[in-house]
Formats: sequence, structure tokens, C-alpha cells
Amino acid sequence: GGTKLSPIMRINKDAVDFYHRVLLTTKAGERGMQYAKKRQLDSDTLEHFKIGYAPKEDNVLITYLRGKGYKDDELAQSGLFVQTQDGRLFDRFRDRLMFPLEDENGRSIGFSGRRISNDKTEAKYMNSPETEVFTKSKVLFHFAEAKKAARSEDHLVLYEGYMDVIAAYKAGIKSGVASMGTSLTDDQVYMLRRVTPNIIVNYDGDDPGVHAEERAARMFSKDGNFNLGIVVLPEKLDPDEYVRKYGAEKYRGEIKGALTPTDFFLKRLAQKYNLDNDREKITYLNEAVKEISQVKNPVEQDMYLEKLSRSAGVSLNSLKANLARERRKNN
Ligand code: GTP
Ligand code: MN
Ligand code: MN
Ligand code: MN
Ligand code: MN
Repeated sequence: GGTKLSPIMRINKDAVDFYHRVLLTTKAGERGMQYAKKRQLDSDTLEHFKIGYAPKEDNVLITYLRGKGYKDDELAQSGLFVQTQDGRLFDRFRDRLMFPLEDENGRSIGFSGRRISNDKTEAKYMNSPETEVFTKSKVLFHFAEAKKAARSEDHLVLYEGYMDVIAAYKAGIKSGVASMGTSLTDDQVYMLRRVTPNIIVNYDGDDPGVHAEERAARMFSKDGNFNLGIVVLPEKLDPDEYVRKYGAEKYRGEIKGALTPTDFFLKRLAQKYNLDNDREKITYLNEAVKEISQVKNPVEQDMYLEKLSRSAGVSLNSLKANLARERRKNN
């Protein structure tokens, strides 16, 4: 509220309202509503995220916006249309469920549209192209709202997908954000840092998701100013699928039970080796001690060594000696 909108933002805002109205109140929107129901999006959720539907028919949006008095040269800059060689404009998004994208002040800057047909030759998600007001690497979905929620929840939760942010919201976690289907950027890390040091990463439980969590954890640790929690969901589920399968309460438990980065890496490491094989176990222990040697707080470090000593059945003293050697190597 109160902030001045550039023409591109005004056009995008009008498109948000238009697509939202199409979804909720029109015959053409019934197809979108059917899909929304299938994804268990209730009316509160549709309202909060201002979800909409871009109908199948050609050029519904451009007709509407021209009718509101916008000129084609303004519309061409908005990202909402594709332009032919000879300069004609066409609606970019068709037959998609529309997720509005906002900047950190809640101003409309673009969309991501989810395919609702089964046509796998079409991209599952289509984003607005980069414009004067939309730079993918500097946007986090739902960030303006999540910032407010972070005051009471005392953390932000980072997701892979829009539908995960939305599922978390329904499950009572309103501080969810997602990067734009690309890997996390330094700019996004910095945006998060300005809100809270307490970040929980909850990407999909599949292999790509867990690898991306490793990468994100390294980025947050490198920054050094974060208190990070990492959630790995079972059965390769993503948060949306998890909430559907196990319910909101159990999901909130997963968030509460987030691992420290060190526990996360140690757990990943243990899965890589066959610990019944002595040679593999030795490699594992060396790698684990190396990981623990990165921990700066001595009490924390001790805690991890103790745990490792217990789980691996080796003496704490030998692990400590190993760790001291590791530190000399690093200095
Ligand atoms: P649903 O299938 O709708 O539940 O989506 P999802 O969020 O589970 O998708 P997925 O885990 O496959 O991908 C995570 C995120 O990557 C999405 O939310 C998108 O931001 C992005 N993404 C996925 N597929 C595409 C695509 O085809 N194009 C683009 N640009 N981004 C994609
Ligand atoms: Mn409404
Ligand atoms: Mn995924
Ligand atoms: Mn997913
Ligand atoms: Mn999903």
C-alpha cells in the first residue's frame, strides 16, 4: 500500500485481478477451478495467493487491458504478451493456473503459470520473462507475506515449489517462500538474511531436492550469519504431497524436527557407505570428523563427536585425536 506503481506493475496488477476473477466467477474459469479443486486449493488459499486462471481462448487478457485504455507499447513491456515479428501482441499464458509473483513490497511483477492439461510437450510451469521489474534471481515467491509471518513464527521456510509454499500455508506455516524454479542465488540468501537468521530448508525429498539442500546449506554456511534447519521428507515426497498424505499436524512436526546442517551432512554421509565394511567405515569416520571439524562452537563440536562415538562404537578419545589432526591440517 502507498508505494507508487510503475506502468508495468499496474498492468500486472490488473492482470492479477482479471485472472483471479476469471477463475472465481466465469464459465471459462470452470476448467481452472476443477484443477484448483484437484490440487485441494480452498477459497481462502485462492484468495490469499490471488491465484487465477488464464483461459484457453486467444487474447482474452489483451482485449481486456486494451479496453482499460492501455496502449500496445506499454503492454509489450509487461511480460504478459508475446510479440510477433511484425509487432502484434498475443497473450503469453493460456490454459494455465496463474500464480502471481510480487516483489518484496507486494507489488505485482509477473506470473508463473502451471499447465493444467496433460500435454507433457508443454512446460509444467511457465514464468514471465525478465522485464524492467522482474529479475528471477532476485525474487522469492510469497516473500512479502512471509516476512510478516516470520515475526510470529520466528523463522522463514524455504521451499522448492509454489505448490509447496501453498500447502505449507494451508498447514499453518505462513512463512514459506520459494525461489523461482532455479537454484538459490546469493541475492535471495541476502534477502532472507535481512528478515531472520532462522531459516528452515524443506525442498523435495527426492534426490534432486536433497542435493539442492546440500548446496543451499553450503551457501548459508558460507554466509555464516544463519541458524539453519534442514528437513528431509520421507518417501521422496515433496511438502505438498506430504501434507496430503500425512496431514498438517504431522507436517508441522517435520518442521519442528529440522536437522542442524551438521546432522544433515552426517546422515547423508552415513548413507553413502556400507558401515559393515571396515574400510568403508574408516573412510566414513574420517569424512565425518572432517565435517565436525567445521563446527565452530566447541560445545557443539563435542556433542557431535559424542554422538558419532556412540553410533559408530569407537572411543571418543580417538575421534578427538582425529579431529585435532584435522584442524592442524586446516591451519
Ligand atoms: P507440481 O507438480 O505442480 O506439484 O509442482 P512442483 O512444485 O512439485 O514441481 P517440481 O518439484 O517439479 O519443481 C519445483 C519448481 O521448479 C516449481 O515450483 C517451479 O518453480 C519449477 N519448475 C518445475 N517445472 C518447471 C518448468 O517446466 N519450467 C520452469 N520454468 N520451472 C519449472
Ligand atoms: Mn477475490
Ligand atoms: Mn522437485
Ligand atoms: Mn515438487
Ligand atoms: Mn508438487
